[in-house]
Amino acid sequence: MTRAIYPGSFDPITNGHMDIIERSSKMVDELIIGVLINHSKSPLFTIEERTDMIRKVTEHLGNVSVKAFDGLLIDFAKNCGASVIVRGLRAVTDFEYELQMAQTNRVLAPNVDTVFLTTNLKYSYLSSSIVKEIAGFGGDISEFVSPYIEKKVKEKVKGKNSDEQDRTINK
Ligand code: PNS
Repeated sequence: MTRAIYPGSFDPITNGHMDIIERSSKMVDELIIGVLINHSKSPLFTIEERTDMIRKVTEHLGNVSVKAFDGLLIDFAKNCGASVIVRGLRAVTDFEYELQMAQTNRVLAPNVDTVFLTTNLKYSYLSSSIVKEIAGFGGDISEFVSPYIEKKVKEKVKGKNSDEQDRTINK
């Protein structure tokens, strides 16, 4: 049985992530989406929101589950009993960082291999940061995320903008 992990911040999950999840879940028996509890960055969505959103948009995939994780990815992989880490490669710019991570993780755990899937060309430019930036300026993100995620991002951005407005007025 092959159990794989697809790790990331998923703030928010995009169509590019979905493409990797749908394709890799067909290659393994079980795919666990590992959502990083990111203490260093300040994510738009809380860890609970990100995991809930991913569960919702992957509910049609029977062998996919979602777990939050903290600390080293390789420890999370070992704790889950996973032998494969899945990562998407969008362009050559991703490669250096991904190679460094994969090589380091293999030194830390020689029995866990990183497998790369090249992202669908349609999404080769896409990132969660770009989605947040476009949404922040009121742009259309419907090509980049599912309708459910689009709704969640719009609600969040609207809430954030009105909080900022309140703070400016109360200054
Ligand atoms: O796709 P992302 O959001 O850039 O994901 C990056 C992620 C979560 C895979 C990476 O930051 C990670 O593995 N973080 C956990 C800490 C860790 O293990 N660092 C050492 C990597 S060699």
